[in-house]
Amino acid sequence: MGYDDGFLDKKLNERIEGNFLRRLTLSSGLIDFCSNDYLGIATNHLINNSFTGREAHGSKGARTLAGNYTLIEFTEAGIAQFHRAEAALIFNSGYNANTGLLSAVAQRGDVIYYDALSHASIRDGVRLSFAESFSFRHNDVNDLEEKLRSRNAFSGQIFVVTESVFSMDGDIAPISELISVCMKYGAHLIVDEAHAIGVIGDNGEGVVQSLGRENEVFARVYTYGKAPGCHGAAIAGSTKLKSYLINFSRSFVYTTALPESAVKAISEAYSIFPVLKTERKHLSEMICLFQSADMGFEKLKSTTPVQGVIVPGNSEVKKLATRLQENSLDVRPILYPSVPKGKERLRISIHSFNTKEQVKALIGWL
Ligand SMILES: Cc1ncc(COP(=O)(O)O)c(C=O)c1O
Repeated sequence: MGYDDGFLDKKLNERIEGNFLRRLTLSSGLIDFCSNDYLGIATNHLINNSFTGREAHGSKGARTLAGNYTLIEFTEAGIAQFHRAEAALIFNSGYNANTGLLSAVAQRGDVIYYDALSHASIRDGVRLSFAESFSFRHNDVNDLEEKLRSRNAFSGQIFVVTESVFSMDGDIAPISELISVCMKYGAHLIVDEAHAIGVIGDNGEGVVQSLGRENEVFARVYTYGKAPGCHGAAIAGSTKLKSYLINFSRSFVYTTALPESAVKAISEAYSIFPVLKTERKHLSEMICLFQSADMGFEKLKSTTPVQGVIVPGNSEVKKLATRLQENSLDVRPILYPSVPKGKERLRISIHSFNTKEQVKALIGWL
């Protein structure tokens, strides 16, 4: 059985009854008086696309008008199948997916609880919605439960949002515990898998799926600019959620769709990253090497490619990053106010292509 998101019916039914439900339709090959391709540059493939092959660089419009096409629908079907979801909907970026999802599903009278370390795109989505919102302490299910308990008998919808792998700390959210507490209080869990896709799970499927809990989560956000090595994002969930987003998600409706070239890259990424098992194994060994090393600085606990080394003070962390860069190590400082005062840090991304010698050289400076 899939996720029960019947609360979406009310607004969808209003559109069905009013005969203004949006559905995506493919071009029927008629004479084009609909797309925004005013000079025919996309239609006639006038941009040199030798590096992408035959795919068009422009989609000519929004998905709900002229911008829908077979490859994007086919790719969405593949994404849904890969992530064991009923449906998937491609967005132009992870930022657009999070803002478009949260602002659409959470209504006035609803409430959103979000992890205190949530990415800016989640926070902006929360701000764009008309729902009330509260943060809960980072990865603290007890704090979340206390907040949910205080809302007993709440009549609106309750949403809980987290990242599965946190973008600045690299730690993993307690997804199973979050699911239990969400079920107990009738809350809908949304998980942003931006830093998990490609990396976590035997095939890079992400945290929720690697735990086998995909049917207990309302929506999952996958972004393609990180491990998949391309651009764009998708939201996986029910067919009803997809239809709802096509109708109410403003960052989906009011923007030009990704071009074929970008969607082809997403589709190819899905055929590449699941088979990179040796790379994931080496990556995991390099993460262990880094984690087990003695360092003069505080190192955040993380089993993912995102590693944080705390160097308090903006000028101190900048100075150390410069030293590393002068010694051929490209490490960037993360300064206050992006992170709390005293938690300024080097944010280190470990890759499958980093050698043992390179990681050891980096450790030597820390
Ligand atoms: C957790 C998280 N979600 C969403 C995004 C946004 O994704 P995109 O870069 O595709 O807009 C990021 C990117 O930094 C991220 O770290």
